[in-house]
Amino acid sequence: MNIAVVGTGYVGLVSGTCFAETGNRVICVDIDKDKVERMQAGEVPIYEPGLEVLFARNAEQGRLHFSTDLNFAVQHSEIIFLALPTPPGEDGAADLSYVLKVADDLSEIIEDYKIIVDKSTVPVGTAEKVASHLNKKLSSALFDVVSNPEFLREGAAIEDFLKPDRVVIGTNSDRAKKKMKRLYAPFVRQGNPIIFMDVRSAEMTKYAANAYLATRISFMNEIANLCEQVGADVDFVRRGIGSDHRIGKRFLFPGVGYGGSCFPKDVKALAKTAIDAQYDFRILNSVMQVNVSQKEIMVKKLQKLFGQSLAGRSFAIWGLAFKPNTDDIREAPALKIIQSLLDSGANVKAYDPEAMENTKAHFGDKIEFYSDQYEALHDCDALLVITEWSVFRTPDFENIKKNLKQPIIIDGRNLYDLRMMEELAFYYDSVGRQKIAAVDLEI
Ligand SMILES: NC(=O)c1ccc[n+]([C@@H]2O[C@H](COP(=O)([O-])OP(=O)(O)OC[C@H]3O[C@@H](n4cnc5c(N)ncnc54)[C@H](O)[C@@H]3O)[C@@H](O)[C@H]2O)c1
Repeated sequence: MNIAVVGTGYVGLVSGTCFAETGNRVICVDIDKDKVERMQAGEVPIYEPGLEVLFARNAEQGRLHFSTDLNFAVQHSEIIFLALPTPPGEDGAADLSYVLKVADDLSEIIEDYKIIVDKSTVPVGTAEKVASHLNKKLSSALFDVVSNPEFLREGAAIEDFLKPDRVVIGTNSDRAKKKMKRLYAPFVRQGNPIIFMDVRSAEMTKYAANAYLATRISFMNEIANLCEQVGADVDFVRRGIGSDHRIGKRFLFPGVGYGGSCFPKDVKALAKTAIDAQYDFRILNSVMQVNVSQKEIMVKKLQKLFGQSLAGRSFAIWGLAFKPNTDDIREAPALKIIQSLLDSGANVKAYDPEAMENTKAHFGDKIEFYSDQYEALHDCDALLVITEWSVFRTPDFENIKKNLKQPIIIDGRNLYDLRMMEELAFYYDSVGRQKIAAVDLEI
């Protein structure tokens, strides 16, 4: 099939590349001229494991193209995916201006029947809005608007896209349904379902999925905080409940709050949908409140140890990306933690395997960046582990000790074994577990 993907970010580029990989001819469109030129020159503009190989192969074999020319892409495509940003507006609602602007553009361009697919995460009723924008210039016979929310996880996006747990497609049009079924057939050969439904249910499914996952995280963070108060260990509790099939093992890790480009904005947007529908969605409000305070726990732990003012102190940060295997720092807990440290007068030295460039663009020279994780520790008062990159899981503890002023680790991801930290004589404070104070500190 001939496909256009409008918006070549994390979702658009992965979707476009994977559709090309299954034999389709794909034109990825973006308004960012610089980005398009880089992609045309063979450069992958984001870090996503496994993407480079597929990108290179499909570009070389002429199935994957990049352009700023929406008109050209649309004329040469039968299906047009919208993978555009839907950032939160001031009131928390998803900002639909990118999506509706492209809908307006499409209304000027489309000449024969096209399927317009909302892949962006958009609130219930958006497909109808897109259709009404298209209708300004076009007869309804010339298009169908389909909702096809994307569930890929950054860091595992290629795997998720090629082998999705399910594909959700919202449409009432048999014509669109047939095409979408054919397009996705290569991705569901193992029996994972394509679930067809009405458009509004498809739109709601995406928000329900993300809001539920965010709820699990906030719930476990609350359990962890309570574990600290009552002397229980959240690691045991997590394993104890996760082996119950009704609960399941995944998404039960406490930490420093959820971040990323999706959970925070999607939970907010669903809450706004509830407000607009005059429904009091109490759980969601708590999920958001818990997440805000969870992002503060690491700095609070430092203040408990060093006193309220952290002026003149230096702290090393391991992990800036909102999760491992990505360079994405949107709404990353590290940003909030670093900002609080700077606000209280501390110096920050940071290391991340992939996200330093993006973080530099955010903080400029307000913090120091190191290309070696151990060099970042030099002369620091403590190490803060914020993202659970594999490279932080079994570090050289002697090297950590040698570089830090005192052996203090505040771990937001529970990476290290408590008994081991005791034997290694660290001061080690993690989330929802006993604090290890196996060394006399001079504060
Ligand atoms: N990132 C994820 O993990 C993820 C997962 C599932 C769903 N989503 C949803 O997918 C959507 C896109 O997310 P993303 O993370 O890929 O965003 P992104 O910011 O990485 O990419 C969006 C791209 O759209 C481009 N763009 C903006 N206006 C344009 C226009 N008029 N024409 C062409 N291109 C334009 C931007 O230049 C950018 O490259 C959002 O709604 C998001 O909620 C994201």
